[in-house]
Amino acid sequence: MKVTVFGIGYVGLVQAAVLAEVGHDVVCIDVDQNKVDNLEKGIIPIYEPGLTPLVKSNFESGRVKFTTDAKRGVEHGDVIFIAVGTPPDEDGSADLKYVLAVAKTIAEFMPKHKIVINKSTVPVGTADKVSAKISETLAELNKNLTFDVVSNPEFLKEGAAVNDCMRPDRIIIGTNSETAEKKLRELYAPFNRNHDKIIVMDIRSAELTKYAANCMLATKISFMNEMANLAEVFGADIENVRLGIGSDPRIGYQFIYPGCGYGGSCFPKDVQALARSASEAGYTAQILESVEAVNYKQKEKLFGYISAHFNGDLAGKTVALWGLSFKPNTDDMREASSRVLMESLWDAGATVQAYDPEAMEETQRIYNGRSDLRLMGTKEAALEGADFLVICTEWQAFRAPDFELIKEKLKEPLLFDGRNLFEPSRIQEYGLHYYAIGRGLSVKKH
Ligand code: UDX
Repeated sequence: MKVTVFGIGYVGLVQAAVLAEVGHDVVCIDVDQNKVDNLEKGIIPIYEPGLTPLVKSNFESGRVKFTTDAKRGVEHGDVIFIAVGTPPDEDGSADLKYVLAVAKTIAEFMPKHKIVINKSTVPVGTADKVSAKISETLAELNKNLTFDVVSNPEFLKEGAAVNDCMRPDRIIIGTNSETAEKKLRELYAPFNRNHDKIIVMDIRSAELTKYAANCMLATKISFMNEMANLAEVFGADIENVRLGIGSDPRIGYQFIYPGCGYGGSCFPKDVQALARSASEAGYTAQILESVEAVNYKQKEKLFGYISAHFNGDLAGKTVALWGLSFKPNTDDMREASSRVLMESLWDAGATVQAYDPEAMEETQRIYNGRSDLRLMGTKEAALEGADFLVICTEWQAFRAPDFELIKEKLKEPLLFDGRNLFEPSRIQEYGLHYYAIGRGLSVKKH
């Protein structure tokens, strides 16, 4: 099938590569010429396991092409994906200007009926706005053509996006058009093996499904972080509580890890956007507002422990920091807890010596030229001359460190762990003082 994808960002590129891999004929459009040139040379703009070889092989075989030529793109695809960004505007609502600009472009260049698929995470009601924009533009140009708009949200996890896209749990198709449903069933047939993963519903329910899924997951995390804080209040250990509640299959073990807050491009943005659009519609989404508020506070948690330990006196301290990305297996720093921590440490006059397996370049780009940030080549180098160690991201490479070395290198044998990677009693055997999230007595000052 001939497919066009507007927006070679994270979602668009993964989707395009995977559709090409199963044999579709895909053209990707982006306004950024530099990005297009790089992709043609095999340079992929994001770090995602498995994506580079997938894009390269499909580009070499001619199944995926990259261009800035919107006209060529619109003419090519029977189905046209909109996968451009929806950055939060000032009040946290999703900004639709890029989505609507693509809708207008599609109307300008479409020579015949097209199926337009919304892949970007967009507020409920956006498909109607896209339809209105296309109709309005067609009318202005006196073009008498029909089209369908479908909501088909993505459910990709960074770091596992290629696999999630190749083997989806579900494929949500929001449409009221039989033609569009038939076409999308054909498009996704290669991913629909074993059992039927396609769930067809009305457009607005499909749009809300995407937000509901992410908000549910974010709620689980904020709930656990609140329990971790209560564990500290009552002198309990959240890790025991986690094991205890997860064993109930109705609760389950997934997404109940307490920590120094959730980040990334989805949860913070989607929780905020749904809460804002609810309030615009006259409804106060109390749970969502609390989920957001708890997460905001949780990101300040590590700094709170550190500041309390040193009675607020952090001026001149050097802090070893392991983990910068918002989670492992990505170089993404969007809304990362490490940023909140580093910025508080800098405000308090400390210097940060950081290491991350993938996010060093991105950190350099964001905080370019800061003299109080030193990016180190290895996790051991980050310990050199540091006063104490903080862990912000649960990279596998941090799970079994050389504790003897950590103790030897640090000026004070002190470890603040934002991801609860270790057993407190084990760390204490090495003579290290250990602060973790919600681990009761372990967070008391020694
Ligand atoms: C998320 C959803 O999982 C995905 O389905 C959706 O399509 C996009 O948003 P992603 O943002 O890539 O994916 O990351 P995810 O693995 O879900 O983690 C999000 C954040 O939550 C990370 O900061 C992670 O550290 C944190 N987290 C996750 C916890 O703090 N505790 C947990 O138990 C799980």
